[in-house]
Amino acid sequence: MRAAEEIGEERALVWVPQAAAIAREAGARLREFFARGVETEYKGDVDLVTVADRTSEALIKRRLAEVFPEHGVYGEEGTRERMEGEFRWYVDPLDGTTNFAHGFPQFCVSLGLEQRRPGLASDEDGTIVAGVIYDPMRDELFAAERGKGTTLNGKPIAVSKIEVLAESLVATGFPSHKRHDNPNIHFYHEFTLRSHGVRRAGSAALDLAYVACGRLEAFWEFNLNPWDTAAGALLVEEAGGRISSFSGGPFELNSREVLASNGRIDGELMGLFEDMFAGRSLEPIPTPEEFARRRAERAAGAAHIASA
Ligand code: IPD
Ligand code: CA
Ligand code: CA
Repeated sequence: MRAAEEIGEERALVWVPQAAAIAREAGARLREFFARGVETEYKGDVDLVTVADRTSEALIKRRLAEVFPEHGVYGEEGTRERMEGEFRWYVDPLDGTTNFAHGFPQFCVSLGLEQRRPGLASDEDGTIVAGVIYDPMRDELFAAERGKGTTLNGKPIAVSKIEVLAESLVATGFPSHKRHDNPNIHFYHEFTLRSHGVRRAGSAALDLAYVACGRLEAFWEFNLNPWDTAAGALLVEEAGGRISSFSGGPFELNSREVLASNGRIDGELMGLFEDMFAGRSLEPIPTPEEFARRRAERAAGAAHIASA
């Protein structure tokens, strides 16, 4: 039998403690900027950026270089450093800039660490091994390392146990670039009518963290970037959920489709995606009576299993 210290050491977190400290420091800077108010600049027609995004990225870049001098950094605001190394951080220094610029308190810092084996082609994914998402307004720190579970402020968290879309709260988002080409409003419409509701809160990384802790049953979005999803994808998986493409294919950092779920309602969502992409008509939205009948059947089924 192995000594307790040896097992403890094996489970000890390797990257999260430092990454969490960096995310907290960057989050504190964001909080100050938020309180003071910042001017908005435009990267595209509605793609906003502020001094807070740039200051946060510069701080994260500096701190990562201090604690992990060999690690690469790939940041939304342009950082590309040591991209040939074994480890690479995907950094979103402020996810939810539009919210931030409008004084809407839903945004975060997201840091995801990829490990890349030697010889990997530049368009191939390595393995995401750590992720940290920090919400400075609620002081909530979500963190995971591969194989070690997901935590919220140090306590283990898990995805929800809801089995059907009809009883789920789900979320999505809309990109600020190429928005005219985005078909998502059609999915938004259908999923709204078939669930408890769809939230569009404006921070993809927090949406993923919320799937991980069971506040949401699922999240999907078109055209996200690796800095939006790297950390959140691992948080969801390590909390027992599933992350994939809309058809159930493997999640990829550069994928144009991200579907995260509690691993229970994803089959239903994939079926809807498939039918909608194929232009097939969907099963009609159940009437209120039908909703009630199905809910009663599920409750009776659950009671039967509990008493067996
Ligand atoms: C955006 C947010 C938003 C999502 C957009 C992202 P940013 O990131 O995550 O929720 O819908 O697609 O670009 O620009 O605020 O870092
Ligand atoms: Ca983002
Ligand atoms: Ca950002």
